[in-house]
Amino acid sequence: MTMNVLVVYYSRSGITRRVARDLASMMDADIEEIIDPTDRSGIIGYIRSVWHVVRNKEAPIRTPQNDPSTYDLVIIGTPVWGRKMSAPVRAYISQMRMLLPSVAYFCTMKGTGDISALEGMAQHAGKTPLAQITFSEQDVKKGAHASELEAFASVLKSAA
Ligand SMILES: Cc1cc2nc3c(=O)[nH]c(=O)nc-3n(C[C@H](O)[C@H](O)[C@H](O)COP(=O)(O)O)c2cc1C
Repeated sequence: MTMNVLVVYYSRSGITRRVARDLASMMDADIEEIIDPTDRSGIIGYIRSVWHVVRNKEAPIRTPQNDPSTYDLVIIGTPVWGRKMSAPVRAYISQMRMLLPSVAYFCTMKGTGDISALEGMAQHAGKTPLAQITFSEQDVKKGAHASELEAFASVLKSAA
């Protein structure tokens, strides 16, 4: 039976986007980028973003295109911000939590905070993931994430 999968992600600077696109192609999944019109560029945008996660503020994201309840599995990806999920992903989960089917999570980071970010996603969604995984920004830039991502995709294909 073919599994209907949606990969949803937010990316400020392209790292999480790259993982999301690779994963969607491995899983033959639909893909949705969470769009946040907030200016997060440069140092001011960085500080603004830290401030938002410190306060658990939800970003004013655009209305998502896809209804997650029409999928068998939704995989949500976020960059780690201040050891938490990013503000746009927090907003997405708040809007969609009642519509989520089985879930999996992934995050990208420079070096620390993935465990608390992933725990926060599970708590906020009220959903334990089938699987979860972290990638470092450095590995994704080198393209060194592919084999772990393949393994993650095959776990999900057999679990769902
Ligand atoms: C506001 C902000 C806060 C961040 N906080 C952390 C952090 O707590 N730990 C970490 O390892 N990386 C942190 N980072 C780095 C990002 O998680 C990392 O660069 C990520 O791969 C970026 O993904 P993106 O290009 O998809 O936005 C932070 C980045 C930003 C912009």
